[in-house]
Amino acid sequence: MKMLVTGANGMLGKDLCSYFEKKGHEILRTNRDTLDICDEEAAKRVIIDNKPDVIVHCAAYTNVDKAEDEIEQAKKVNSIGAKNVAKAAREINAVMVYISTDYVFDGTKNNPYLPSDKPNPINIYGKTKLEGEFEVQKYCEKFYIARTSWLYGHNGKNFVETMLSLKDSELLKVVNDQKGCPTWTMELVKGIEKILEMPYGIYHICGKNSATWYEFASEIFKQSNLKVNLVPCATDEFPRKAKRPFYSVMTNEDELNLTRDWKTALYEYLKVRKDA
Ligand SMILES: NC(=O)c1ccc[n+]([C@@H]2O[C@H](COP(=O)([O-])OP(=O)(O)OC[C@H]3O[C@@H](n4cnc5c(N)ncnc54)[C@H](OP(=O)(O)O)[C@@H]3O)[C@@H](O)[C@H]2O)c1
Repeated sequence: MKMLVTGANGMLGKDLCSYFEKKGHEILRTNRDTLDICDEEAAKRVIIDNKPDVIVHCAAYTNVDKAEDEIEQAKKVNSIGAKNVAKAAREINAVMVYISTDYVFDGTKNNPYLPSDKPNPINIYGKTKLEGEFEVQKYCEKFYIARTSWLYGHNGKNFVETMLSLKDSELLKVVNDQKGCPTWTMELVKGIEKILEMPYGIYHICGKNSATWYEFASEIFKQSNLKVNLVPCATDEFPRKAKRPFYSVMTNEDELNLTRDWKTALYEYLKVRKDA
């Protein structure tokens, strides 16, 4: 298949492109310079000229705290950008995969969120990503919405790398009252490959089972054989610009086996990381 990827230089985009390329697919990597998703004409031209079978839309405004101050820019990239790509996808009858987030939920549930649960974002990033979901559903018939969470991988700033960089701290306080599903980019990539064989619609692709950030950090250090003085704390102790949902664990209506247990995936990530 011919696959066009937006945001191909991002953390997910890089891993996604190399995985599908190794599988023998033709990959068209695009980035802000070759396809600025905010530019409707450019999106149309690049997509229509290249006629991909599948577009994986990884490009996004991803700075959750900064989005609270840059509302218009976040909206432009996450909502209007998604619309531009969806409209162009429709013109060539391409399948579109839109990567979305657990932050579309408010976190007030106490059992895992399903794709059919009503979103109610509590920060600008979540709101603009949800608007993007609506645009994709409105303009593109052949769509997949893949919601993921707590993403980490080799090519970007993320929680695993931040924790490892802080391993020499005398004391490390980590939030223990927000729960979610840590997800390695490669688990998401393989999950996307699986849903491409399934009916169009919304899917949750995140590490199986859940953890608090503190539990996630403890597991990172345990698996890395590092002794770090970790101390659990409350969200209130770390005031941030954007509100986060306290609970954003996700699953699907049926057991689709899109991913593995998050601890198993973390083990593999740390091994690959060490060998790299
Ligand atoms: N990271 C997470 O924890 C997480 C959780 C849930 C969902 N997601 C979603 O997963 C997807 C991938 O996230 P990620 O962590 O890989 O993000 P990332 O590393 O920040 O990558 C996003 C990419 O989008 C590009 N981009 C931004 N504005 C653009 C524009 N106007 N035109 C073209 N490209 C543009 C960025 O380019 P520049 O570097 O030049 O800005 C960057 O390469 C996003 O849709 C995100 O919302 C992420």
